[in-house]
Amino acid sequence: MNELPMKIAKKLEGRVNTNSLRKLSIQNNLIDFSSNDYLGFSKSEVIFQKAHQYLVEQNLQQNGATGSRLLSGNHKLHEEVEEQLAGFFNTESALIFNSGYNANLGLFSSVPQRGDVILYDEFIHASIRDGIRLSNAKAYSFKHNDLEDLEQKILRQSRYLSGQSHTDPIEIYIVTESVFSMDGDSPNLIAMSKLCKKNKAHFIVDEAHAVGVFGINGQGLIQQLKLENDVFARIVTFGKAMGCHGAAILGSKKLQCYLINFARSFIYTTAIPLHSVATIKIILEELITKPNRSKESQQENLQKNIQYFNQQLTTVNHQLNFIKNNSSIHCCIISGNEKVKEIASKIQKKGFDVRAILSPTVPKNQERLRICLHSYNTPQEIGEVLNLLHTFVASP
Ligand SMILES: Cc1ncc(COP(=O)(O)O)c(C=O)c1O
Repeated sequence: MNELPMKIAKKLEGRVNTNSLRKLSIQNNLIDFSSNDYLGFSKSEVIFQKAHQYLVEQNLQQNGATGSRLLSGNHKLHEEVEEQLAGFFNTESALIFNSGYNANLGLFSSVPQRGDVILYDEFIHASIRDGIRLSNAKAYSFKHNDLEDLEQKILRQSRYLSGQSHTDPIEIYIVTESVFSMDGDSPNLIAMSKLCKKNKAHFIVDEAHAVGVFGINGQGLIQQLKLENDVFARIVTFGKAMGCHGAAILGSKKLQCYLINFARSFIYTTAIPLHSVATIKIILEELITKPNRSKESQQENLQKNIQYFNQQLTTVNHQLNFIKNNSSIHCCIISGNEKVKEIASKIQKKGFDVRAILSPTVPKNQERLRICLHSYNTPQEIGEVLNLLHTFVASP
């Protein structure tokens, strides 16, 4: 085998030296406090069978999409499900991408133009950062969930831009997540949307971790707060609470048309296969039919577990440094890669799948143990995992 070039070998060595080398691990049988399968849909036999049956009934037994959506890969089902998504999320249009990563890459690399300005939360997801890196616009971060800092940065940009002469108008895009993937917290979306309106900025919100968790049928926080008409674009993903795969960009029909023409991660890739599209269809139906059932829905079970978890944190004095929120992602800050890895490993040995989030994924000294809550976790399991964490943090 060829040796690695020295520069990249050194980078790998650096990861070993800082205890942050990433390794793949095979799925385990531990109690799940780590996956994004918040509603347990990924393992639902009913959803699997219904999607299969639908494909057979419609004579859509096809293993792969065969090409880009712009060539041989587009199918009536893609467009039907996009219509269904637009209805579910109360928006003019939805465009399906192969993943949330691809959706963000396509949106941010193609929409903001040279001379435009992107203001993004400093903790924004890597897929958005990568999209921004591919864009010709200028980009600046604002402090996490900090509206004052955001407003100052908007004003600074507006003053600067008004002093310049432009042939084309300069646009400002403001980007955040409705539930942050590493902290589980949320910005003040109402205030942020007002700020965008006041400054004629375009508001873009990634709802990857809010879909299935918030909103009457799991449509996310933007819809729960009735802000659908105040956002320029929303990114929703199907690989998390929806237990499937893929993503969609929600917005106007004109935005959809623009993305079909200019979003390279949409154009230059094989379309998402029909299995996944049919599964998205069935899951949307599952979310919609929920209120007619006598039994509690998965979303209701999840909400109960989130409430129970937060109650445990306040009633039992755990003295753990958790970032408070009402989402399914809860993080306990434990400084240092080595320490957080050790605590995660001790809890795993007791049968619970919790994961350490290391720097550089999160800033140094903000390393954390992430606990993801699900509809199928029991109160006993939640109590136990917190007790273990408390024990190991108190006496490592
Ligand atoms: C906020 C956010 N956006 C986008 C993505 C990417 O989504 P996907 O896993 O579908 O590529 C993720 C996943 O980690 C995420 O957390």
